Amino acid sequence: MQLATMPPRHHVVRPQFEFPSVLAGKLRSPFGVVLGSPAAAAELAGALPSSDIVGYQMDLFQAARLRAELEERGRFAEVVTAPDLWDLPDPVQTLVYPVALGGERALKIDMIEQAFHVLRPHGVFVVLSPFEKDSFLPNALKKVFGKVHSPMAGSDQIFWCQRQSERPRRRHEMTFQVRVDDVTSLRFLSRPGTFSYGRFDNGARALVETMEIRLGDRVLDLGCGCGTNGIIAARRSGPSGFTTFVDSNLRALALTRINAEGLGIPAVETIASCTLGELPSRTYDVVLANPPYFGQMTIARLFIERGKRCLKPGGRFYLVTRQVEQTFGLMEEAFGQTEAVERRGYVIFQATTS
Ligand SMILES: C[S@@+](CC[C@H](N)C(=O)[O-])C[C@H]1O[C@@H](n2cnc3c(N)ncnc32)[C@H](O)[C@@H]1O
Repeated sequence: MQLATMPPRHHVVRPQFEFPSVLAGKLRSPFGVVLGSPAAAAELAGALPSSDIVGYQMDLFQAARLRAELEERGRFAEVVTAPDLWDLPDPVQTLVYPVALGGERALKIDMIEQAFHVLRPHGVFVVLSPFEKDSFLPNALKKVFGKVHSPMAGSDQIFWCQRQSERPRRRHEMTFQVRVDDVTSLRFLSRPGTFSYGRFDNGARALVETMEIRLGDRVLDLGCGCGTNGIIAARRSGPSGFTTFVDSNLRALALTRINAEGLGIPAVETIASCTLGELPSRTYDVVLANPPYFGQMTIARLFIERGKRCLKPGGRFYLVTRQVEQTFGLMEEAFGQTEAVERRGYVIFQATTS
C-alpha cells in the first residue's frame, strides 16, 4: 500500500530552488526573506549563499512552522515575527520575497513599500512571482523602486530592483465604519495581511448582533483580528468590564491596540499566541470566537476547548461559523447542550458552562 511505503517526512527529497546565475553577484549578505509559505521561505534560505539570514513573518504560527522547516533542512536562519517588515531590527543588503499564489494584492503592495525601507542603501530586492506572465508585480515595484529588472529572458517570474534613494514611509491601510446602534458608528483601522482588510466581516457582524454582554463582563476575544468584536463587547460591558484580545498575527494585535485606544476602551489586554498557552489563569464571563476555516478545524477545536476552560461557571461561549456540522460536533463534545442561531448566512453557536 502506498502510504506504508512513503518515506518519513525528513527524507522527502524536494527539487532545490536555484537563483538564476545572472543574479549570483547581487546576492550579498545580510539577507532577509519576506513572508512566503514556511516551506518556500525555508527553501529559499537554503539557496542563499550564507546563513546570515532573517526570515520575516507576521504570524506566530507561520513563524513556528518556518523554524521547523529550517530545522528539517539543517539550515540556520533567524526568524523574526513583527507587525511590520520595516520593524526588522537591522537593515539587510538583499531581500527576497516569494510572492504567494492568490495572496492579497494589498499585502504585496505593502510588502514592496516596506521592503524599500528595510534595505541598506543600494540593497537589492528580489521578487519571485508565482505567475509565468506578471504585469502587476513589475508595475508595483516600479512605483516604489523606479527601475525593475527581469533576469530571465522570456519569463516574468523573477524581478529585481535596487534601492537608489530615499522615500518617505507610506502606510497601506484602510478604515471602515461599524454601526453599533441607531446613533453610534465606530471607526476601525485595518491593514493588509489581517482579517478582514477594509471591511467588517459579515460573520463578525452576525456574532456581535447575537452575543449578550452585561455590564461588568470580563470578555475574551479569541482570534481578535483588528479587535472589532471585543471592542464592541467592551463598550457594552462598560468601565467595570475587562477585555482580553488574543491573536497569532502580530499586525492584528497592533491594530487592536490602536483601535481600542482610538475608541477610548480603557481596560484591555492583548496576548500574542498561536497555542493559547500564554493565556492568564483568570476566568471570563464571555468568550467570543470567529475561527479561521483552514487547518481542518484545528483552530476551531483549539478555540473551543481552550475557550471553555477560560469560562467561569455560567459563562457564555459564542462562536460564528459556516462550517456548521463539524463545528457543532466539536461544540457538543466540549459543552454538551449547544444552541444555534442563523444570521446573515452564518451560524452562531452558543453554550453555557455549568
Ligand atoms: C476569521 S478571523 C476573525 C477575526 C475577527 N475576530 C473577526 O471576527 O473579524 C480569525 C483570526 O484568528 C487568528 N488566528 C488564526 N489562528 C490562530 C491561532 N492559532 N491562535 C490565535 N489566533 C489565531 C487569525 O490571525 C485571525 O485574526
